[in-house]
Amino acid sequence: MSLGVLEVDGYPVMVYRKGGIEYMWLAGCPHKKRPILADGHKIFDDKIECPFHRAVFSLVTGEMVIPPDSKTPCSMCRLIKVELKEGRATYYGEPFFPELPKGK
Ligand code: FES
Repeated sequence: MSLGVLEVDGYPVMVYRKGGIEYMWLAGCPHKKRPILADGHKIFDDKIECPFHRAVFSLVTGEMVIPPDSKTPCSMCRLIKVELKEGRATYYGEPFFPELPKGK
């Protein structure tokens, strides 16, 4: 398995490769639209843990498997899937530009 990062339409996209299959996701945490690959993220068992409130998402299905440790619930609880075909991207969800919290 490996994780790479691409830029698609200006968005950071993470590419998780496992067993000859590629899974592509917007590299933004759907909880507070923060960069999920920021320092402190963890990858284990086909999952990624967001460094901000520790929500955990499957890198295979995109589903949230552990909710964020935050008073603000996650309303859009899955990673945004990205598909590339003939040079065009399809987003399964509303893509966004991940940003660090103000003051960081
Ligand atoms: S921003 Fe990712 S868990 Fe809150």
